[in-house]
Amino acid sequence: MSQPLTMIRPDDWHLHLRDGPVLTTTVGHSAKQFARAIIMPNLKKPVTTTELAMAYRDRILAAIPDGLAFSPLMTLYLTDDTSIEEIKRAGNSKHIVALKLYPAGATTNSSSGVSDIECTYSILEEMIEFNMPLLIHGEVTDPSIDIFDREKIFIERHLEPLTRRYPELKIVLEHITTHDAVAYVEEGNSTLAATITPHHLLLNRNAMLVGGIHPHHYCLPVLKRERHRQALVKAATGGNPRFFLGTDSAPHEIASKESGCGCAGIYSAHAALELYTEIFEAAVASFHGADFYGLPRNKETISLVKRPWVSPESYQFGEEGTVRPFRAGEALDWTLYANLHRTIQ
Ligand code: NCD
Ligand code: ZN
Repeated sequence: MSQPLTMIRPDDWHLHLRDGPVLTTTVGHSAKQFARAIIMPNLKKPVTTTELAMAYRDRILAAIPDGLAFSPLMTLYLTDDTSIEEIKRAGNSKHIVALKLYPAGATTNSSSGVSDIECTYSILEEMIEFNMPLLIHGEVTDPSIDIFDREKIFIERHLEPLTRRYPELKIVLEHITTHDAVAYVEEGNSTLAATITPHHLLLNRNAMLVGGIHPHHYCLPVLKRERHRQALVKAATGGNPRFFLGTDSAPHEIASKESGCGCAGIYSAHAALELYTEIFEAAVASFHGADFYGLPRNKETISLVKRPWVSPESYQFGEEGTVRPFRAGEALDWTLYANLHRTIQ
């Protein structure tokens, strides 16, 4: 067995756990891998208030397997109707750490999202008072814009004016996919950061479209050209503290993915660190995310070993459903120590 790779246990700065019985699977997987995670609020009934977020947090805590420590960092879903009072409540709660901005209609469960960013200015000003970050799904919804260009155009049309107007607002551009986003964040000031997913580091759009349509590689923002993937790898491994890990693990019931109109989202929580380690081979963990959010750095360590295992074809997802994970039925090179029992010999 090769030398194990030991690192400080990382955090996932962008995660979809969903709700209800599926929490057993999703929380179980993430709690094994990560110390903390930023929990996305795009439930079917979006998490728009502190009260809803606290109730959701309780359901997540109840699903943490015995013996594992995992802290869900809650977010609120920004809508056209979010009030200043709600921001004050969230800002005063130690469990709500950020607000999420979905342009209305941009992705899964985003229909209650923001229709015009300019209408949220008073909310953003209140968030600055509490030093709460704004997490952005950075894609335009303009039907005339090609889906492969939606991130780049979002930066030009919306992010640039926003960062100019509010340089002190902490912004995380979520799950970036293009060299344009990498360049924009690199040139930005210390209040602008970005998360990068394992699938955008490992795959380009061929993985979705060559040899047939591969619905399990469909996510939003959609996979891009190889040169964009290479820019992401460079950013993720380059040491800039404003790029950090966010899986965007986003499970959907298998039938909703393998469909005439399949849902966007890739489930990677079962093997997130093993997948990132393929890219990094070292130094997956970093303190970049914790430092940006102003949270303490983790102290506990976690180890991986270079030993292959085959990812299951599916996991149980709720009482009757199944979810097909990233790399289903395929070998992964790295194994978490905690999962050594599943290694093929
Ligand atoms: C996410 C989901 O399914 O909730 N889907 C995805 O493709 N990433 C939503 C999102 O983060 O866009
Ligand atoms: Zn997401």
